[in-house]
Amino acid sequence: MNIEIRQDYPALCEYVGQQVIQTLKNKPDALVCIAGGDTPLGVFKVLVEASQQGLDLSRAAFVGLDEWLGLGREDKGSCREMVYSHLFDKLPLRPDQICFFDGLTADPQAECERVDAFIAEHGHIDILVLGIGMNGHIGFNEPGADLNNRCHIVPLDPITKAVSVKYFGGVRDVTQGISQGLKTLLEAQQIIVMANGEKKAEIVATTLNSEPTTAIPSTLVKNHAHCTLALDTTAASLI
Ligand code: GLP
Repeated sequence: MNIEIRQDYPALCEYVGQQVIQTLKNKPDALVCIAGGDTPLGVFKVLVEASQQGLDLSRAAFVGLDEWLGLGREDKGSCREMVYSHLFDKLPLRPDQICFFDGLTADPQAECERVDAFIAEHGHIDILVLGIGMNGHIGFNEPGADLNNRCHIVPLDPITKAVSVKYFGGVRDVTQGISQGLKTLLEAQQIIVMANGEKKAEIVATTLNSEPTTAIPSTLVKNHAHCTLALDTTAASLI
């Protein structure tokens, strides 16, 4: 696994954003998947600017990584709210170019199948930008996740529930997530795992120091042929 360290968060986002832009230049019909959450917000900004400066997105496709079950676009801090507000709404995309989990679905299993079918139609994800949860989760693949999973429903880990308060501005009754599974994620052509800030320093060091294990899902990308761990200096401070 390649490690890239940048001085600060804007420089980190510029690096990751340029990787996505390069993928889209090389393969205009690429399937892109970028996590929700706080980590990639600056990457969204880089992509919006590139689009305003003429990056052609007319053939690109975007798929969601995960979502809190029970939350939708109107819920501040849902993945849909974050990714649409900061990215999709600012890009000239047609609805058919986006496949995103509906956290309000009455039929989560059908929702999993819909997202799996969209990815299958494109073959695989071309570039995947992941954040790392405080417990090492990637998407909502929590510690102990099954390597053979595609989209699935996940009981959320207590650490994930505790951390969720930062998105929602308070406690919400979220107990399950809907997420792409490890099998799909590890089939991506290129993976970038991003982390910034001091609070991620410990899980970043743990990820680097552990053998790949489902107990720490972020370690599983280490065997991937084309994976980069992209950090700012504070997230890299314990490695
Ligand atoms: C969240 C999301 C993930 C995200 C990760 C890190 O719970 N479900 O998609 O990548 O945990 O979140 P953050 O970037 O806010 O630290």
